[in-house]
Amino acid sequence: MNERILLIGSGGREHALAKALVVSPSCAKLWVAPGNPGIAREAELVSLNIGNADDVLRFCQNNDVSLVVIGPEQPLAEGLADEIRAGGFDVFGPSKAAAQVESSKGFSKDAMQRFGVPTAPYRRFTSTQRDEALMYAKQHDLPVVVKYDGLAAGKGVVVATTREEAVAAVTDMYEGVFGDDGVVIEGFLVGQEASVFAITDGTHYVTLAPAQDHKRVGDGDTGKNTGGMGAYAPAPLVTPSVLDAVRALVIEPMLRGLREEGTPFVGCLYCGIMVDDQGRPSVVEFNARFGDPETQAVLAVLEADVAALFASAARGSLNESTISNVALGYACNVVLASQGYPDAYEKGAVITGIDDAEADPYVTVFFAGTGQRGNDLITTGGRVLGVTARGTTLEEAVRRSYAACEKISYSTKMYRTDIAARAHS
Ligand code: AMP
Ligand code: GLY
Repeated sequence: MNERILLIGSGGREHALAKALVVSPSCAKLWVAPGNPGIAREAELVSLNIGNADDVLRFCQNNDVSLVVIGPEQPLAEGLADEIRAGGFDVFGPSKAAAQVESSKGFSKDAMQRFGVPTAPYRRFTSTQRDEALMYAKQHDLPVVVKYDGLAAGKGVVVATTREEAVAAVTDMYEGVFGDDGVVIEGFLVGQEASVFAITDGTHYVTLAPAQDHKRVGDGDTGKNTGGMGAYAPAPLVTPSVLDAVRALVIEPMLRGLREEGTPFVGCLYCGIMVDDQGRPSVVEFNARFGDPETQAVLAVLEADVAALFASAARGSLNESTISNVALGYACNVVLASQGYPDAYEKGAVITGIDDAEADPYVTVFFAGTGQRGNDLITTGGRVLGVTARGTTLEEAVRRSYAACEKISYSTKMYRTDIAARAHS
């Protein structure tokens, strides 16, 4: 009971992190900035301007904070971890330089190439190479994948199955919808996707239960890409031998390479993996932080002193035997979204039924795009709630999760009905 922790963020992922931190034997106190109405049930909220490192540092100094945990990609990409470290505090989260594994697809692909990490063949085009990018996209085999070379909230990737789509994707990305960072164009990887999280101090690491996200908005993986519509863990697709391959071919060379180049990665390295029908992994993407909504499922099956684990990673003293890889059964998280997401959607619908859903002791409702209006809980985002259930089998976790989803009401409620269906059908 010694860590005084400040967690930064306000989504469903941070709600899950807050819940795991607050029950950790090593956690003496947890603050969350800015948090949300669900996180307020677990911890004390503080209204800091998280874009301003001085504000965050002042809070750390005034409150004797021992560890800062940064949830989302934006502050990491902007260098918040560096500024807090420079102020003398321990941080779980990568430096701005290491966070480029996520904030720049081009940096990430170049790093994988240098370190020999398996990934799709690619070419990188700068903000002034629009014509070259168009030419390359036109003559590439189909499908071809066009990615914006900067942060785009999970929406900067187009898998084009026709030349017209490929050209339109490149054109759109050069029109400045997201910014002017150029594009990466790469080959299409065939297989099934999984998310593997490595908690690392830059040298040592532990992996958590592999998860599978559901990125498309519609059942049967149809419609647009989203931030993620649901997840489950552990994903049977990632067998022990697939996980061994991910460790040896992806995590270890990546951590070693970044460390040797003077940009060690400290925090959670999110490995987005495509597993082919031979069980061979290739990297689809890296993220510099926990996945959302995978975290809501992964932490539900993790038995560990999460506060101690993050603190040891932040301090360069991660003990690889802190946790075993044995998961506590299965967990399924179904995201309740707002109709229209990932495009425009209405806000302000009144949410009811959460207590009823959580009457099942195996169910936890994580809050994402929610707010308070008077005494009402209302929707304020595209992804509103994450309904997680545990079970001794995946089927049981899925059944409990969907039963709980039905108890929650709001006028714009929308969700996928097939989370984890591929794994247990
Ligand atoms: P990313 O943000 O890079 O993870 O891309 C979003 C989604 O697009 C991924 O989760 C995949 O479903 C898909 N995707 C991205 N790159 C590829 C690729 N090279 N081959 C096949 N699918 C891809
Ligand atoms: N669920 C995908 C992500 O967090 O990027």
